Amino acid sequence: MRITRPRARSRFFGRYGGRFVPEMLVPALEELEEAYLSLRNNPGFKRELARIRRDFAGRPTPLAFAENLTRKAGGCRIYLKMECLAHTGAHKINNVLGQILLARRMGKTRIIAETGAGQHGLAVAAGAARFGLRCTVFMGEIDMRRQRPNVFAMEIMGAEIVPVRDGSRTLKDAVTAALKDWIEHLDTTHYLLGSALGPHPYPRMVREFQSVIGREVKRQLAALRISRPDILVACVGGGSNSLGLFHPFLRNGKVRCVGVEAGGRGSRPGDHAVRFGAHGRPGIVQGYLSYFLQDRDGQILPTHSVSAGLDYAGISPELADLHDRKRVEFVAVTDREALEGYRLLAAEEGIIPALESAHAVAYGVKAAADLPRSRVMVINISGRGDKDLFIAARALDRGNWLAFLKDEADRAE
Ligand SMILES: Cc1ncc(COP(=O)(O)O)c(C=O)c1O
Repeated sequence: MRITRPRARSRFFGRYGGRFVPEMLVPALEELEEAYLSLRNNPGFKRELARIRRDFAGRPTPLAFAENLTRKAGGCRIYLKMECLAHTGAHKINNVLGQILLARRMGKTRIIAETGAGQHGLAVAAGAARFGLRCTVFMGEIDMRRQRPNVFAMEIMGAEIVPVRDGSRTLKDAVTAALKDWIEHLDTTHYLLGSALGPHPYPRMVREFQSVIGREVKRQLAALRISRPDILVACVGGGSNSLGLFHPFLRNGKVRCVGVEAGGRGSRPGDHAVRFGAHGRPGIVQGYLSYFLQDRDGQILPTHSVSAGLDYAGISPELADLHDRKRVEFVAVTDREALEGYRLLAAEEGIIPALESAHAVAYGVKAAADLPRSRVMVINISGRGDKDLFIAARALDRGNWLAFLKDEADRAE
């Protein structure tokens, strides 16, 4: 494997990032970088992206004052950035639409993607259907099983879903399968990576497409005569919704940014996905240098989270740098706390968050209690929780839910 480093140092995030890929992929990544750099400020491209964000994705998403949650927490004012109201139910559509417009301008006719929770795959399938592109989505067999509603939704939108049966049969292995397919079909195919990670230029490109979240929050707070938020809270899988919210505020040292990782069911390896904890160390995996959950020999450790979207051993290289520079704080929330966050937001605000976002809610409510009323917190509700109803109901309403599932299974036979 030849390791290519991007030419300019500025293309790294401190020591992290880069492009550590097989030689065959280099031309495709260079082509993508060139297309991206030439189009990102192109007025026609920007207009097209703004139009499709508005008409198809439903942007801007609201910034809602969470009155009941604020009262319940008894501390600072809590606002919710409602990415759950974007089309297909999560922030993932922001990145997908950007990359699909890019792929079309590059003359690609086929999109491939990997997905964990299914939200990225769903957004890709919707975008590909909307723009008449062929679409293949790679998904770990385990994720396919726990996200069946999303698998069905992708299929009716015309995507081919390829189950990945290698390794841990989750997102990590789906990424490997997608990269393999890409190498075989470079002429026709764009690999639509779903988070702010992977080889350069993906981390920066995805973060830029997602920064629409933070830019909107800035404008929406200004309209409420709030000059800046005091604290921003977002869950962290690969890092795209958190960076999307944080990035426009990073230069303002008075804004605290908190990323919430999946604490899972405990601190033992295999029980969580806390990259900035005892088992996370810098390394090079899947084309980039960042923190990864790994053992002493550099083998990637298995991960666990109740939410498939946070269940990943790697993390955005930009977040790795922000962590080391102490510009973004990281905390962990357990499965049990996240399920309580899910229930709490539903009960207090009538909003069912994705289990990923429920991690941010759980931490946000705890942290809000310690801050005075004059302060403002924004929690990113990165997605809606319909996809997780089966998981949450099994945990929170086990008896009734199992009886329902049995009845449904009997009826289907
Ligand atoms: C709703 C939702 N939130 C958060 C994430 C985590 O990804 P990221 O950290 O890239 O935002 C996912 C990933 O699938 C997701 O579906």
